Amino acid sequence: MIEALHGTAQAMVSRPRGILAADESIGTMSSRLEKAGVPATAENRRAYREMLLRTPELHRGISGVILSDETFNQKLDDGQDFPLALHALNILPGIKVDTGAKPLALSPGEKVTEGLDGLRDRLKDYVSRGARFAKWRAVIIIGDGLPTRNALRANAHALARYAALCQESVLVPIVEPEVLMDGDHTIDRCAEVTRAALEHVLAELDEAGVDLAGTVLKPNMVVPGSTSGQQASPEEVAERTVATLRAVLPEALAGVAFLSGGQSPEVATANLAAMQKHETPWPLTFSFGRALVDPALKAWHGDPTQVAEGQQALADRVEPNSAAVA
Ligand code: 13P
Repeated sequence: MIEALHGTAQAMVSRPRGILAADESIGTMSSRLEKAGVPATAENRRAYREMLLRTPELHRGISGVILSDETFNQKLDDGQDFPLALHALNILPGIKVDTGAKPLALSPGEKVTEGLDGLRDRLKDYVSRGARFAKWRAVIIIGDGLPTRNALRANAHALARYAALCQESVLVPIVEPEVLMDGDHTIDRCAEVTRAALEHVLAELDEAGVDLAGTVLKPNMVVPGSTSGQQASPEEVAERTVATLRAVLPEALAGVAFLSGGQSPEVATANLAAMQKHETPWPLTFSFGRALVDPALKAWHGDPTQVAEGQQALADRVEPNSAAVA
């Protein structure tokens, strides 16, 4: 059981591959489709995900794909279930299992991620249908007096309970404490909050007995706030991010797979490439959503005759990220 967890976790972060996050909730995916001029139907969400995962040679740069519950329950045009189709493509199927970030009581402006009730039974079901790893995203907001210690603790505790339940079911947990880019904060403030968030998460994982060698961490990169007017070079982002991770993460961790968090595809790739110049005890790879799929969505825009163009746009983003971590 432990060997299976370790093997899956290592495969998820094995060079030159990263993880494709295609697990947007129905609400988020619907608004992204509408923005691209595509009617937000269940069929269009399904067709979009089928277009992505049928990209030729996707497995060369992608070790795993994170699915949402809706997609996990859908079928490809040929009748295959999505998770089994991924196995056939030599890609590990993952499943987002949280039910979203909700307002944190008595803590205005902050959120806590829900989804623990009934999670053990849901995980068993996902595993029986082919899932090999899971994801849970916590959201940490930087603002006036934020984040509070309460928000850091509540989110870290939920992440640890989720991760322990995953490992009990022989699923590798992706542990994602995302410090949002939104705001006018400095890169120093992002580094400070990212470090605090990771310290809380690692302490809770330890208390919960979670095996780090069977865990993949999905953190944000350390960057200035999106409305700060500041721009950091890839070298600075890499240096600040690696220093923050080094200060907190034990060597035993299987690997780190960054989210893109609203950075442009090119900037996310340049930052990821700059990180590789630093020596770290854990592989540093990507688990991007928007930075991989935004160009593909634009190129496809719901037109069945544009599937190959959408797939080429995805391949054109996978390739440089894969090269960056090779
Ligand atoms: P982005 O790379 O678009 O931030 O998405 C990654 C993800 O999985 C967020 O939960």
